Amino acid sequence: MNAAVRAIVRVSIQLGATVYFVKEGYHGLIEGYITKANWYDVSFTLNLGGTIIGTKRCMPFMTKEGRMKATKNMISFGISNLVVIGGDGSLTGANIFREEWPYHITELLKNKEIDEETSKKFAHLNLVGIVGSIDNDFSGTDMTIGADTALHRILEAIDSIVSTAFSHQRTFIMEVMGRNCGYLAVKSALMCEADYLFIREWPQKLDWPDKLCKNVQTARNRGKRLNIIIVSEGAVDLNGNAITSEMVKNVLVTRLNQDARITVLGHVQRGGSPSAFDRILASRMGAHAVFCLLEGTAETEPKVVCLNANTIVHQSLMDCVKSTLEIGKAIEQKDFDRALNLRGQSFIQ
Ligand code: F6P
Repeated sequence: MNAAVRAIVRVSIQLGATVYFVKEGYHGLIEGYITKANWYDVSFTLNLGGTIIGTKRCMPFMTKEGRMKATKNMISFGISNLVVIGGDGSLTGANIFREEWPYHITELLKNKEIDEETSKKFAHLNLVGIVGSIDNDFSGTDMTIGADTALHRILEAIDSIVSTAFSHQRTFIMEVMGRNCGYLAVKSALMCEADYLFIREWPQKLDWPDKLCKNVQTARNRGKRLNIIIVSEGAVDLNGNAITSEMVKNVLVTRLNQDARITVLGHVQRGGSPSAFDRILASRMGAHAVFCLLEGTAETEPKVVCLNANTIVHQSLMDCVKSTLEIGKAIEQKDFDRALNLRGQSFIQ
């Protein structure tokens, strides 16, 4: 995300705009943690994981009162253009904020907290979203910022684990993040020659233990000294029941008498130095977000910056949020082809 922040700051300054950091996400918008950003504030941040401006889950932003405070703060700094970097939850929150904005302005004018001229100047909030999520679970973009780096972390971990697995002829069950999205699991399974994969979008038939054992045993019979099984944290069976790493391990231990271990990668996947791909993607997206705001593209409706077939484009934010929510529904209805299509090209390929 820092590469996106850096690009937003530098492209804006280059084009003559004043840029502010909102520290700690929506919490900072409400509390007024807003500071002017300078060119050198973002030097040497490309190599840092996470976000230098901080983030925080913020319940008050879910209330009208909280959003009213945020509006007042923004006006006091003269801000009417906002870039939000986050997942579908943050971006939906941003859209509600934008929709409510004219109402807040009318209220402030009515209460004489702002004058007529200010109310006209700040009549609209121009909003552009950028998707930052390791899960790659947002419809409309081929890749979200952070997913490629997370994939690197997973593969580094698996490569390290293979040393022990090979020497001791063990099986490792690797649990990866992704919430309800199997992107990280699918790609890491392909890249480490995993023997089995569990993801939500491909719910297992109830006889999955038989299939799992067959695959693992066949590989061993052919001389393979180790097995890697990837379990996405959202994996389920066809009845919608969770398939956990513990369940997978028990099957391998009880049925095949395997020396099996679980590694839950957890937040290791969300940190560390960003990959080259992510740095470039986020820089391109950040720059595009500024163009959208300064060219007025986001005036009529909020936009989200997306990667489509290696081209950076913008789309209607709410159309993309809606189709992201559709994915969940399609999975519930067991319409997996539709779910995968909505997930986008990088997932399918
Ligand atoms: O959405 C990103 C993600 O890392 C998921 O993959 C994971 O399930 C979740 O966030 C973890 O959230 P938290 O850091 O709040 O535990």
